[in-house]
Amino acid sequence: MPKIEVLEMSNISKSFHTTRANHRVNLRIQAGEILGLLGENGAGKTTLMNILYGLIPVDEGVIRINGQAVRIESPRDAIDLGIGMVHQHFMLIHNHTVAENIALGLSDAPFLSPCRHVARRLEEFGRRFGLKINPQERIWQLSAGEQQRVEIVKALVKGADLLILDEPTSVLTPQETEELFAILRRMAAEGHSVIFISHKLEEILSICHRVLVLRKGEVAGKAETRDVDKRELARMMVGREIIFRIERPHLEQGEMVLDVEDLVVPGDRQQIAVRGVRFQVFRNEIFGIAGVSGNGQRELIEAVTGLRKATEGTVVLGGQNITNASARVVANRGISHVPEERIKFGIVPNMFVYENAVLKQHRRRLFSRVLFLNYGSIRKHASAIIERFNVSVPTIDTPIKNLSGGNIQKLILGREISGRPALLVAAHPTYGLDVGATEYIRKQLLQKREQGLAVLLVSEDLEEIFELCDRIAVMYEGRFMGILPTAEATMEDVGLMMAGSQPGAAVGGGE
Ligand SMILES: Nc1ncnc2c1ncn2[C@@H]1O[C@H](COP(=O)(O)OP(=O)(O)O)[C@@H](O)[C@H]1O
Ligand SMILES: [Mg+2]
Repeated sequence: MPKIEVLEMSNISKSFHTTRANHRVNLRIQAGEILGLLGENGAGKTTLMNILYGLIPVDEGVIRINGQAVRIESPRDAIDLGIGMVHQHFMLIHNHTVAENIALGLSDAPFLSPCRHVARRLEEFGRRFGLKINPQERIWQLSAGEQQRVEIVKALVKGADLLILDEPTSVLTPQETEELFAILRRMAAEGHSVIFISHKLEEILSICHRVLVLRKGEVAGKAETRDVDKRELARMMVGREIIFRIERPHLEQGEMVLDVEDLVVPGDRQQIAVRGVRFQVFRNEIFGIAGVSGNGQRELIEAVTGLRKATEGTVVLGGQNITNASARVVANRGISHVPEERIKFGIVPNMFVYENAVLKQHRRRLFSRVLFLNYGSIRKHASAIIERFNVSVPTIDTPIKNLSGGNIQKLILGREISGRPALLVAAHPTYGLDVGATEYIRKQLLQKREQGLAVLLVSEDLEEIFELCDRIAVMYEGRFMGILPTAEATMEDVGLMMAGSQPGAAVGGGE
């Protein structure tokens, strides 16, 4: 089949029940071009690309390659036409080698020693694009960045002219992101086309030639990236002005609230997830834990909040030893928790909004009169949270599962903060939220810091960490690589530490 010189999607519409995921979208990309597909969560980016890759049927619209209308009804069709896709979640077999994984996807691999054939291609791609990867290595031995390279190679080996990458940097360190960008630039220079999905403005501006912005399923704008800046792109994406720099005024560190010493915490699979971590969090401080997910952050938070038992070490809150106390005791002593899996641990989906607004707190005196729950004051309290935290909800008698992720998160945050905790533990508080809700939640955290709250924040979003935190700990393989005052930290240093190397400047930390 001929190489893809121009690919056009015209008038693409797709609905799921009543959700208009794509509405009359037009997209055009040429050989040698990197096109950014920008939009907030839920804007319809993945849907549009799943249509192009034949994963879901389109309701309306036409796809043309080099002017010819084509039918793409399965990934097989897409691959035959020269389209490849790397998904947000990788689809690799963990105990197979790189070469075996790649050979598995090939319909035309030679019957005899297919892996040798793959190894030769790998060597070629290494030379041409800087896509270096060892064919003998097993998938479980690879970092997320390396696994992503395997996925890219898989698509290229199948003959992709056009490569779709769905939020490819969400699993990468800053250095790995730079490496990926170098590979994509070389691919484009050799005449490949790339569609790069992201909701991160800097990335779009740094890697893409052109950008198409989706908002609520429709095209909200398009531009040559050299003609636009972050502010303009954000306006297209969100539909209003966004303030980027939020103020974090300098505050003196208050008294110590949390003191964690030499904590060792087992993981889910017999392994040790946290290998001796030591840190303190003070009033008027946001203490951030950065790192690629899966390096023990979740287990550490669970041990601090009473959801998981530590095997060594101590957790002391305001002078009281709460090591291995139950979640309820921990909550009563003053630790609030905005959990990572908010649907699973933060709410009861089938209960009403007003009931969820007092979850965990209904034992408080205000709400219970001896044996009865005081529904009047519960409802008043719920309404107050909803108003103060800008939760958009038809009535407080709506089941909470009908709310959007952003509104659920605002409600949880409102509930957890309104209990006047000594320490707020927030795990990925803005993950998956739109720009407006993100901005709002970050401001709330900073406001509480000014009012004296101690906050322990876990995030994979380095911008968020730098924007909010007073000190940054970087977690890698169960340990802190170091603890840096944000004022003295650089993205590069933190990025290096996230990958397990020690930059010269690092100080302190817990072994
Ligand atoms: N399989 C599906 N069933 C129902 N709704 C879906 C499905 N896939 C996506 N949607 C909805 O379509 C909209 C667009 O989603 P998506 O394309 O995943 O957005 P993005 O990738 O930009 O975050 C969202 O409102 C989402 O909830
Ligand atoms: Mg998506």
